[in-house]
Amino acid sequence: MSRSAKIAVWLVLAFCFDLRVVNGAHAAEQELARTPPMGWNSWNKFGCNVSEQVIKDAADAMVSSGMHATGYEYVVIDDCWQVARDANGNILADPQRFPSGIKALADYVHSKGLKFGIYSDSGTKTCAGRPGSRGYEYQDARQYAAWGVDYLKYDWCSTDTENAEAAYTTMHRALLESGRPIVFSICEWGKSKPWLWARDVGNLWRTTGDIYDCWDCKKEYSTGWLVILDQQVGLETYAGPGHWNDPDMLEVGNGGMTPTEYRSHFSLWSMLAAPLIAGNDLKNMPTEIKEILTNKEVLAVDQDPMGMQGRRVRKNGDVEVWAKQLQDGSRAVVLFNRGASEAEVSANWDNLGYPSRLPATVRDLWNKKDLGKFTGKFSAKVPSHGVVMVRVTP
Ligand code: GLA
Repeated sequence: MSRSAKIAVWLVLAFCFDLRVVNGAHAAEQELARTPPMGWNSWNKFGCNVSEQVIKDAADAMVSSGMHATGYEYVVIDDCWQVARDANGNILADPQRFPSGIKALADYVHSKGLKFGIYSDSGTKTCAGRPGSRGYEYQDARQYAAWGVDYLKYDWCSTDTENAEAAYTTMHRALLESGRPIVFSICEWGKSKPWLWARDVGNLWRTTGDIYDCWDCKKEYSTGWLVILDQQVGLETYAGPGHWNDPDMLEVGNGGMTPTEYRSHFSLWSMLAAPLIAGNDLKNMPTEIKEILTNKEVLAVDQDPMGMQGRRVRKNGDVEVWAKQLQDGSRAVVLFNRGASEAEVSANWDNLGYPSRLPATVRDLWNKKDLGKFTGKFSAKVPSHGVVMVRVTP
């Protein structure tokens, strides 16, 4: 064989090997987050006030509150755990706030049967001004794998003219090469329409700016959950097992809304097949809040294995009907009243994709009560800012 023929054969073999490695790793990654990830993240409650004690308390409470038993598993430290890089470029945790180091903290979280997540940024700096991963993607991914990280939230501050798809693809490849299965949470705020490109890059992608603990307020970089909800309309078809639209983390229990409003927020997030990442103080959680976060029948809607995102099927002023098809053919239905006074809301079977003569049983998921058989439609009185959430089974 001539020298150039040999080189050609080697090139073909190397190319095939590379594809095999990348495809194999890719397949493994797609096995992650088959249902929307569930867990807790430090940001909404603690901001930069994180420490190993805060994270350990959250892990302890996730187990003792019964949240773990209902499916919550990832404990994620958001921004501000990192302070600098050493002379070799290794990322360093804040030695005052994390004196035992990140590996020991990950081990602690794992010892509780939970998974451990961390945060970084595609740019030179995180949103709180800490060192970002730009130029250090492979080194950071190797470090995370060595620490035992299971989930990476990757933000979009200080990215200058970076291209989002390229930047997130670089970190995606770095995570694959690290050899550890790590859920990749893309936090690019929906700017470049990640639903169009991120399906094979990450397991979830933020669709909007940040959530704020209010009904429908608008701040500079964040808004109430209702504003975010409206921005989800039309994105339904992009979600599915392994790749989810992320309307941001939960504010349930952070104090800015009423229990009725938190129940609505949680119900709608479940209808969206959203990642359910609690953001409250789990250690000091009132029973009423725990009951929202651990309602198994509502969680089953979010976690339905078919992974079909629900959609708004009717809107009439302040009154809305949302429906989500579930694997067994039934539909989760939310009757939602955004208005200031009680309203009667109806879901017609044709809103749900059922023939109008089909009889179906209706079960109330918040009151945990069978309501009987209905044909053609189901109506209920819904309190101001509240929902009635049911499962309709033919
Ligand atoms: C951005 C993200 C938030 C949070 C902060 C941390 O605003 O969207 O979710 O991670 O940065 O600084």
